Amino acid sequence: MKVTLSVIKADVGSIAGHHKVVPEQLEVAEKVLSKARESGLLLDFYVTAVGDDIQLIMTHTKGPDNKEIHDLAWRAFKEVTDKVSKPMGLYGAGQDLLSDAFSGNLKGMGPGFAEGEFEERPSEPLLVLMADKTEPGAWNWPLYKIFADPMCTPGLVIDAKMRKGFIFRVMDMYEDKFVDLKTPEESYEVLALIGTTGRYAVHSVWRRADNALAAVSSTARLSLMAGRYVGKDDPCLFIRVQSGFPAMGEALEPFATPHLVAGWTRGSHVGPLIPVGIKDAKCTRFDGPPRVVGLGFQITKGRLIGPADMFDDIAFDRARQEANRIADFMRMHGPFMPHRLGPEEMEYTQLAEVLKSLSSRMKPAKEMLVVPA
Ligand code: F6R
Ligand code: MG
Ligand code: MG
Repeated sequence: MKVTLSVIKADVGSIAGHHKVVPEQLEVAEKVLSKARESGLLLDFYVTAVGDDIQLIMTHTKGPDNKEIHDLAWRAFKEVTDKVSKPMGLYGAGQDLLSDAFSGNLKGMGPGFAEGEFEERPSEPLLVLMADKTEPGAWNWPLYKIFADPMCTPGLVIDAKMRKGFIFRVMDMYEDKFVDLKTPEESYEVLALIGTTGRYAVHSVWRRADNALAAVSSTARLSLMAGRYVGKDDPCLFIRVQSGFPAMGEALEPFATPHLVAGWTRGSHVGPLIPVGIKDAKCTRFDGPPRVVGLGFQITKGRLIGPADMFDDIAFDRARQEANRIADFMRMHGPFMPHRLGPEEMEYTQLAEVLKSLSSRMKPAKEMLVVPA
């Protein structure tokens, strides 16, 4: 059967600042989705959270970009906001619901979503990755490692279905355009784009042997949509694994290295992405460091079996230690680049205001020899 997986997330408020959601919020979201499962709209769902973001993981048969599903997610986030976040006075209540007038499609409305339709295999294992305090471009490096680097993924060399390579659908988040690039032969073109993590993000990956969908990520950029700074997009991603797709372990492998991503406090700093189990899916130090959780599922006739908490394991202890060491080093730079992001990534913050307020005092360089008054 054909099944659609929709992972839809939003920050609609959290306790103790942008730290983490409260259980009451998840309960309300669960109730809304429960009704949708009873009515037959959803096949199944799982509600979880990473930091201040609620994650709705849903299976159905409506295909991606479906009005009823987007409407359901919107209603769930709205109810959480109205019934819990606002009455409790949680911080940033409803922050990602950018408009009161919901038109039936989440694009441009605030919540992030990764959705894809595929033919369910006799056994369908997959990995859902969810990050807090970073942006969609954070997946670029791991996705390249997983689907294009044989040093990470030996399956690219020794699994017949993978040896033909993968297509990377790369999104230009500034222009709202995409390009399909074939690996391995266009690997350098892929890298030329996705190395610019603030502008280009991998939207999806497809297996060339049969054009099967392999991975989908959320590529929204809230800051671009809102036209002012409203936080980073805290992206989600799902990857189908095993039997001609990367092994679960190959999909997890890049996260053994805590690579540097944009986000952290005020969405304006570079820091390491720490792989954590659900119990540590909350941000503390300097509002971070940015975290990623990986949940493993089986989809069986549309039912979600699981989750398995993949980073809750000693094999990622060293990555966590390394990330904390890198965090110390990065923090030592204070408000200096490259710890602080470049001005093009900060145009929606006070930096532009500071420049504006100083503009009348900016003098031509030829007056440099004059003693300051
Ligand atoms: C980053 C994030 C936080 C806030 C910071 C300031 O995505 O959500 O780091 O940017 O805590 O928040 P405000 O401006 O709400 O006080
Ligand atoms: Mg928040
Ligand atoms: Mg968040």
